[in-house]
Order: sequence, then C-alpha cells, then structure tokens
Amino acid sequence: MLINFFEEQKVFHLKNEEISYVIKILKNGQLGHLYWGKKIEKAERLDRYDISQHRPYEAYALKDDTGFILENIAREYPSFGQSDFREPAYQTEAENGSIISDLKYQDHQIYSGKKELAGLPSTYVEKESEAETLEIILYDEVTDLEVVLSYTIFQDYPIITRSANFKNQGQQKLNLKRALSMSVDFENKDFELLQLSGAWGRERDIIRRPLEQGITRIDSKRGGSSHQQNPFVALVEPETDEYRGEAYGFSFVYSANFIAQAERNHYGKTRLTMGINSFTFNWLLESGESFQTPEVVMNYSDQGLNKMSQNFHQLYRSRLVRGKHRDKQRPVLINNWEGTYFDFDTDKILEMAAAAAEVDLELFVLDDGWFGKRNDDTSSLGDWYVNEEKLPGGLEYLAQEINKLGMDFGLWFEPEMISPDSDLYREHPEWAIQVPERKSSESRQQLILDLSRSDVQDYIIERVSAILSKANIAYVKWDMNRPMTEYGSLELEAEHQSELNHRYILGLYRVLEEITSRFPEVLFESCAGGGGRFDPGMLHYMPQTWTSDDTDAVERLKIQYGTSMVYPASSMGAHVSAVPNHQVERSTSLKMRYDVASFGNLGYELDITELNEEEMEAVKKQVNNYKEIRELVQFGNFYRLRSPFADNFTAWSYLSQDKEEVLAGFYQVLATSNPKEETLKLKGLDPERDYKELNSGEIYGGDELMNFGIKVPYLKEDFSSRVWRFKAV
Ligand code: DGJ
Repeated sequence: MLINFFEEQKVFHLKNEEISYVIKILKNGQLGHLYWGKKIEKAERLDRYDISQHRPYEAYALKDDTGFILENIAREYPSFGQSDFREPAYQTEAENGSIISDLKYQDHQIYSGKKELAGLPSTYVEKESEAETLEIILYDEVTDLEVVLSYTIFQDYPIITRSANFKNQGQQKLNLKRALSMSVDFENKDFELLQLSGAWGRERDIIRRPLEQGITRIDSKRGGSSHQQNPFVALVEPETDEYRGEAYGFSFVYSANFIAQAERNHYGKTRLTMGINSFTFNWLLESGESFQTPEVVMNYSDQGLNKMSQNFHQLYRSRLVRGKHRDKQRPVLINNWEGTYFDFDTDKILEMAAAAAEVDLELFVLDDGWFGKRNDDTSSLGDWYVNEEKLPGGLEYLAQEINKLGMDFGLWFEPEMISPDSDLYREHPEWAIQVPERKSSESRQQLILDLSRSDVQDYIIERVSAILSKANIAYVKWDMNRPMTEYGSLELEAEHQSELNHRYILGLYRVLEEITSRFPEVLFESCAGGGGRFDPGMLHYMPQTWTSDDTDAVERLKIQYGTSMVYPASSMGAHVSAVPNHQVERSTSLKMRYDVASFGNLGYELDITELNEEEMEAVKKQVNNYKEIRELVQFGNFYRLRSPFADNFTAWSYLSQDKEEVLAGFYQVLATSNPKEETLKLKGLDPERDYKELNSGEIYGGDELMNFGIKVPYLKEDFSSRVWRFKAV
C-alpha cells in the first residue's frame, strides 16, 4: 500500500521507498499539511505536535481555541479569511458577493492507478500497480461547493501529482476567481527559489534567490507558457547544489497562463502555490457544473538538483510523452529555415535534400513558406493550401522525391494563427481573438485564431488532416509565434470572457488529441518562436520541442543546461547551423557546434549545399557518430557537471541506464593565456568497473573517473570543446 489512512489520528500517509507526504484532517474539519520530504516510516506520528499556539493580535478560527490560528498552521488547500491572510489556493464569489468559503473534509477514496484528466494533458500509468491515488472530498456548506483534491503517488518515483476538481452542487451561480492546482505549506525552512526565466532566443536561464517575508511570484500572462518564465520552480535549501541537499521541484502540466508563487509569512512558513494564472481567469460555475484544474508534478530530491532533474526526465520520458515515438530513437533531421528562410522552390529543396542524403541525414523538414502566397511573414497564415507556384507538383511530389533519396519528409505548420492578409481572415474575421471596438495588436503581422470556438478547432483539424493525408509526411513542426494581447472572443457571453485563455488551451488540446490520434505514425515537434511553449502540457502530445531559435553553440550551452533542469534530452531539438551565427554573429567551429547539439536531439539547419567537401565529410562523420550515441543521449541519465552560469566552462554527461556507456562533454567559452589546469569528475559510474575511453583506448576505473576525474587537455581556442566516450570493459 502506498497510501494509508489512520482513522484515529485522521491522518493520510502517502509513502514509497523514497518519500512521505502526510495530510491531516484538522479539528475544524479543514485539511492540514504535516510533512513532505524524505521517507519517514511512521510519519503518521507527526500528528503528536499540538499546532494550537496562542499568538498576540492574531485572529483564530475556533472560538474555544485562541491558538487555532490558520495563518500559523500548515494547510493543504487553503481558503482566504478565517484567520489566514496568505494568498489562498482557490477563491469563489457567491451571488451575494461573498468571497469567503470554508472547505471541510467530507469523505475520501483510495485506489490503485491514476485517472486521466478529461481534456487535459497529464502523467499516466500503464499498469495500475505503478501508482496509487487518494481523492479527498471537501465541501463548503454555505455555497454547496464540492472540491475533490487528487493526489497520486508513483511507486517508482519520488513524485506526487496533484489537481483539484470543483463542482457547484448548489442552486446558485458561483464565480471561480481562483482555482490553483495545488498548495503546500512548509514549516520554517530557509528556502531559496529557483526558476527558469529568459526571453526569446535566451530561454530558461537558471535564476536563484532567497525568499524573504512576502510574495515571490513568477507567471505568464502572454497566452502561452512563455519564453519569459517556464512553468516550473524549485524550492531549495541555501546549501543545496547539484548533488547535495534538498530540492522540491514543481512542474505544471499546462501550456497557457500560469502562476507559481512562494509566500513566506511572519512565522517563517513558506506557502508554494501553482496553477492557472488568476489574473486572466474567472470561471463561471453554474449549478451542477464542474471545473477541473490541470496537474502539478511535485518532485522531491534529497540528493540535490541533479537527482530532481533525473526524476523529471524519467517520468516525462516514459509517463508523460505518449505514442509510437516515445521510446524510439529520434531521426537526425535537416531543416531548411536558417538555410533559405522563405526563399526556396522545389529545385532548391531537392538540391538540399540530395546533399543531406549524401551525409546520411534521415529526415528533411520543410519549414515556413510552402502555403498560400507566403513569401515573407506578412501573409497567408490560415491558408493551408500548397503554393504550387513555388512547389510545382505539390508536397506529394516533394515527399516522393525526398523519400527516393532514402529520407523522410517533414513539414512546418502554424495552425493557431491567422494573418490579416489571408483568405481565411477575409472570410472569417470573427475567428480571430479580439475585443469589439478595440484595435487588435499585431505581432509578426499576425493574429491568433480563437481556439475556444469549436468551428475554429474543426477547421484546423480538417486542414491539417487534409495536408497530412495527401503526402507522405513523417514529421510535423507545430509552431506558434505570438503572445495573446486583447483577450476576447466574439462567441463567448460577457460572463464567460475571462475564461478565454483556458478555453483556448482546452481547444488546442482537443485539436492536438484529435490530430495526433489520427496520425499516430507522425512524429510531432512543438515550437513557439523556439522555446516559448516548452512545457509538459505540449510534451504530452508532442514528444519533442524546438528548444530555442538561438542556434549559437555558446548560447546553447546555457539554454540546454537550463532546459535540462526539467526536460529530458529526447525532448530538446538542437541544431548545428551556419556561421557566422544568424542570431549573434559569432563564428564557432563545426566541431563545437556539433559537440553542443549532439547532447540534445540532433539536427542541422543551414544551406547544406554551401558546405565544402571537407565540411561535408565532417558532417557525415558527425551524423554517423550521433547515430551511435543517440540511444545514450536520448534515453540515458543526464548529469550536469559544470554550470555555464558560473564561469567560462560547461560540462555534462550521459550515462546509460545499465552504466555501461558514458558520454561526457567539456566546453570552454573564452581561451585564457597560460590557464589553470581543469579536471572533470564524472558521476554515477560503477566504481567497481573499468571503462575504456574509445578514442585513446585508455582504461580508467569507474572510481578513478568519479574521484580523481579526467584531466582536460589545454584548450587553446575560444569556443572549444572536448568530448569523451567510455564503455565498460
Ligand atoms: C519560428 C520558429 O522557431 C523557427 O524555427 C521557424 O520555424 C520560424 N518560426 C518560421 O516562421
């Protein structure tokens, strides 16, 4: 049993080999939180402490107990009012205008396995024995609101997932002003908050700061999960590093506006909440209606951040991503975007494809510009009809010719968008997101389709399906290139307007569910101007994501390192592009570019016909080398060894699940005169075994590689790298 209820103490204990999570029904009937962390065999005994403590000038929630101060009690799904002034997990507004509610324990059930969340992405189990779920039913007697809190604990991961379901059981309308997926209160820990923040082309920098009394919040109001903030935070102790100390990771399985917030109060307690961003949200719950929140994945490590990341990687690789490609090695692709931008025709593409075939690339991806009259980014989004002037014979011909070269064919779409200059817009201006009588702000000369509408969803499903059925398309890059600005739908009633962002993403999830099930053979890669929607919600439908539009090898060190905090290499598109780099004008060697990109999901993105013979030979070697290591990269365990955010060097490695194979990379940004010596210590190896370095044939002990390390040879140039491959002997 992973979940037990202790009747006498009124305590739930969720426990596996690594963690314990303990909930108590408080004496006012609400839910309290007793513990979450490293496994404590009998954590139900933590109930021994009296939580009632009188404090001056506080309010108390029970008349006969002046110490029952909710502000000073760790709670499980807190409301506002009744002596707790911290921000709550939810808030309703009744018809009489009251925002006070009081959810009390009513019942619970425990079962094996894990349910799907209707219409939403989530982690899953394949066998019931993989997890157990606790559902706690709470009820507010005044508003007749029922809330079911779901907790799933996995057997083999130190991970708990949470979500909440609201049901209006009364006769009156209820406004759901806030409906977060989870809240957890920690006792007196001096936490720091770690977040992944950035911008377009500079996604997921690792930022860490101490929490002081007050609120620290990261969020997105941009419509999607955003380049600026990833839907992830971790609470860590000041001494936590990659391999030591506690880390509590929170990852939101959602792709629209979100909030992650840590509030530290005057008693040193920290409340961490996560969910849909209430700033752009209100949901009207009519009598009898329900609302389901998305899922938060809560991950505990007592061995630092790297273990936390490995937990996320393993769970997401195997129980978030779905479909035929989940466990398959991903193809090495070439994408024409940076090679040609909009300037291509059939001949050019076939010329590039022929060169790509020569170096053993496996998939040719045709990016933006193949449809409507799109020769730049000012028009045609929505007109998903092949531009036969540019591509005579259409995609069928192109796909056939590319297939003849022994490669698969892939195609770019941006289905959620509409250009004001498009036939679709001329026919259906009402399909764009907009507010009556107000101008719509454009971004990249485009507007967003109102995916809360079923006619819009159906149009996208029909158009994308028509293209995918006609030609032999093995891969789709699903792009989305602008933020949401004037939130408004011409179809929604006034009282439902604030539901738009969530309804949009539910609409998108419906579209993705439909298209990915209609075309199970197709490998989907999600993209949003690079990594603007790199989140677990999208990964549920599409096993890989274009990590960033910044393809510079040096910048990529930070981007891939930061992304690895949550997301596995198999999900991270990483391309070798031309130099000088198009984003930063930097020139790096082909080796450095490959050595960085080959630690992700490798691709090439350049005009390959411009490479000279020597470069073609080098690329061919790289592609074939990657084919040898990709199982290890895409499905091995990742170790961050040296942070690009700290200094001039980066290092990381992959270790196969059976500890037989190791791939380690070391990178220098700027060369220095007469530098210090550098040694790289590897992690996770079998200390009892010997490992052979494949280049030199030299034999090293696993214990030697971990404790002494390997001496890094003197790197004399800017932007240089060294990669080692070891096999156990
Ligand atoms: C943004 C993407 O991130 C790029 O890779 C490319 O597909 C362009 N859109 C095309 O418009």
